[in-house]
Amino acid sequence: MRTTWTFHSAGQLLFGRHAVRQLGEIADRLRAKRVLVVTDPLLLKAGLVEEVHVPLSEGVVVVEIFSGGEPEPSIRAAEAAIAKARSFHPEAVLGLGGGSNMDLAKVTATVLKHGGHPRDYVGDDKIPGPVMPLICLPTTAGTGSEVSAAAVLTDTDNHIKVGILSNYLRPRVAVVDPLLTVSCPKKVTADSGIDALTHAIEAYTAVDNATFPLPAGERSVYQGRHPMGDMLAEKAIHLIALHLRQAVSHGEDLDAREGMALAATLAGMAFSNVGVALVHALEYPVGGATHCSHGAGNGLLLPFVMRYNLPARRKEFAAIARLLGEDVAGMDETQAAERAITAVERLRADIGIPTRLRDVGVTEAQLKGLAEKAFGIKRILRVNPRAATLEDLEGILRSAL
Ligand SMILES: NC(=O)c1ccc[n+]([C@@H]2O[C@H](COP(=O)([O-])OP(=O)(O)OC[C@H]3O[C@@H](n4cnc5c(N)ncnc54)[C@H](O)[C@@H]3O)[C@@H](O)[C@H]2O)c1
Ligand SMILES: [Zn+2]
Repeated sequence: MRTTWTFHSAGQLLFGRHAVRQLGEIADRLRAKRVLVVTDPLLLKAGLVEEVHVPLSEGVVVVEIFSGGEPEPSIRAAEAAIAKARSFHPEAVLGLGGGSNMDLAKVTATVLKHGGHPRDYVGDDKIPGPVMPLICLPTTAGTGSEVSAAAVLTDTDNHIKVGILSNYLRPRVAVVDPLLTVSCPKKVTADSGIDALTHAIEAYTAVDNATFPLPAGERSVYQGRHPMGDMLAEKAIHLIALHLRQAVSHGEDLDAREGMALAATLAGMAFSNVGVALVHALEYPVGGATHCSHGAGNGLLLPFVMRYNLPARRKEFAAIARLLGEDVAGMDETQAAERAITAVERLRADIGIPTRLRDVGVTEAQLKGLAEKAFGIKRILRVNPRAATLEDLEGILRSAL
């Protein structure tokens, strides 16, 4: 029986419109005179790199840009970022982008400090000490990578996403400026927004901290459900219910963008301590096989996994229904819990997330192999409130086909 829990986040969180203007001071406080910005060609074109470059160079910072980021980045993209960093010798690495670029920045900061290859750090708690100072600026409202302990890469040889998990991957500074998300296209807004909802729901319905099944001798940054995670997840779910539809349909609405930016960061704080669970375990192989985005894959799978988990988490699902704005007055707990699932299905439809695995190209013949791959991701599966068998996983995928 576990009797203690911990909470970790970014060293500092700076939140609000125009927060990006304080980057010069931030670099100064980190004593970083040379900053490598890790980003991608689209953000360069959208002018977001300029927004970062100006305040940094107003200080006395020398800036180098790596713009070879890509969605769901491959290990090869990480190798390219590391090569650029090795020739530039930065004193801090800045990730500018969605989860993809922020994760590349995290891997770069790790390998630059500790040597080796990204693959050496895949798994739980494999990074031996602090990484190079990291500043992360999300341009999507989704992953929470700006506060999280994770970096996710795509292993293109094995068609699966691989995760590096370590509290050393938490950025020294997270700068969340909602204005950076305004240029997000509808699909990116929808996909990353439902990813944030998945983080919050998986954290809120995770296995309890007191009974978290961590085998003796193993360490994990995930620790099961605890009160601080609950509080953050509740707020995130409520904000997403209020703002996600509007952020997708009216991307210029700054209140909606700000609400989503806050929700994503809070959900990141929740899941990166409590854990993500079965939705993410299934999405890793599905995403690796189909190249559908992480958020779209999660959004697709979320209601199917909720249905599987419902018997173990009725009270929590009923609370989620209320947080999502459902009127559950007079219903018993099971009926109210069901409403959480239908509310997520409606939200998913309203923002245009695919609803069946076949829509993203999965065939029946693939289901067993996908289930087997997901079944191997124990560090995530053990966070789930129900201990899923291989047959359970295949069944969930079949129900989603
Ligand atoms: N580290 C973590 O804790 C964590 C958590 C969840 C997911 N992830 C990973 O994050 C990745 C997904 O990240 P994401 O959903 O943020 O999307 P993304 O980073 O893959 O970005 C998607 C696309 O949107 C573009 N884009 C991003 N912001 C934009 C903006 N403001 N204006 C215009 N275009 C913009 C990008 O250039 C890219 O082409 C996946 O690899 C996923 O596995 C990481
Ligand atoms: Zn996610």
